[in-house]
Amino acid sequence: MTYPVHHPLSVDRKLTDRTLVSFEGVSKTYDGVVPVVDRLDLSVREGEFLSLLGPSGSGKTTTLMMLAGFEEPTAGEILLSGHSLANVPPHRRDIGMVFQDYALFPHMTVAQNLAYPLKLRRVDAGQIRLRVDRALEMVNLSGLGKRSPAALSGGQRQRVAVARALIFEPRLVLMDEPLGALDRQLREQLQVELKRLHSDLGLTIVYVTHDQGEALTLSDRIALFHKGRIEQLGAPRDLYERPDTAFVAGFIGDNNLLQAKVQASGISSCCVHLASGQSLDARPVRAFQPGDDVLLAIRPEAIRVGGGDGSTAFDGVIEEIFYLGDQTRLRCVTESGESLQVKISTFTHPVRLEPGEKIPLVIDRDAVRALPPERSDGVRS
Ligand SMILES: Nc1ncnc2c1ncn2[C@@H]1O[C@H](COP(=O)(O)OP(=O)(O)OP(=O)(O)O)[C@@H](O)[C@H]1O
Ligand SMILES: [Mg+2]
Repeated sequence: MTYPVHHPLSVDRKLTDRTLVSFEGVSKTYDGVVPVVDRLDLSVREGEFLSLLGPSGSGKTTTLMMLAGFEEPTAGEILLSGHSLANVPPHRRDIGMVFQDYALFPHMTVAQNLAYPLKLRRVDAGQIRLRVDRALEMVNLSGLGKRSPAALSGGQRQRVAVARALIFEPRLVLMDEPLGALDRQLREQLQVELKRLHSDLGLTIVYVTHDQGEALTLSDRIALFHKGRIEQLGAPRDLYERPDTAFVAGFIGDNNLLQAKVQASGISSCCVHLASGQSLDARPVRAFQPGDDVLLAIRPEAIRVGGGDGSTAFDGVIEEIFYLGDQTRLRCVTESGESLQVKISTFTHPVRLEPGEKIPLVIDRDAVRALPPERSDGVRS
């Protein structure tokens, strides 16, 4: 599929192994004491959609601002195509940007907003007209060039912001919560458009969000930030299905987190004891010794009610039932007192369940991950 926008990268661009950006030991402190970004090492591959995901205050925006050139690293270096960005001002970095609050110039029309980055780059008037029209077409806003931003809906304004970031054909586009102010339906619609622009134009996008669903949907890789550091970096599937730490397991999707002790340990599986004495098979994320404390992470959707030949079965008593339409959530308590969230599909499991009912809960070993326990100060042990 081709797009009317001429883009030097639009030929045949797939995810490559070439590094476009690298952060090397980058730290940032605003007050000289607390590092808000802490010795960050991160490579962004050419053509990839990389999301920085994490809780509020974890350093995502600061990381993006350093890459854009609006903040300076306190230590370390950022390279773009192998060249240091220290001393390169923002407008010379060839980076397009989109922020949450649109930041369109209110006194300019939509077309003038789009023309602005081209004027800065001294593109001639005829070319500008042509490229503005193409950009409007690209984001489905043809005919709205003469409007003022105030006369657009939130979603339309955000499309203009995206078009303005792409119009000068930057090799890198940074987006900081660009869809954060929009309602869910519009957000999902623009997510689809962003994904399409990313692949059609072969863009490299670094995208900041604290919405994990958005990060899972859009990204080639996700860097999960926690206290200024990357807790885990990987494809969406890696983070969801193979979290390395309790923080990742707790942040992405829902997980039951249970304290346990290792009884016997192999390379790819181990046997653990819950506090109640119940034993369970698990997949360890690293080598543990018998006697080690671990945290078990079990997805609510990985627990089945009855039947099957899972490796472990509990008897659970249903305490609460939440009907959510497509799925039903149960809060169960096992015989030995562990509380477990269980998620069952309403349609594949249409049996009516009642609070107080005793049900068998079956869990496959593969669905139980044994993680290093989080220390009380939040530092990984
Ligand atoms: N200009 C600044 N001066 C001082 N402290 C700042 C400044 N900008 C950010 N901080 C602090 O740095 C930390 C990281 O902020 P940052 O904006 O990078 O977080 P974030 O991950 O983008 O969070 P959010 O999801 O809320 O946008 C926070 O504790 C914040 O208060
Ligand atoms: Mg932020």
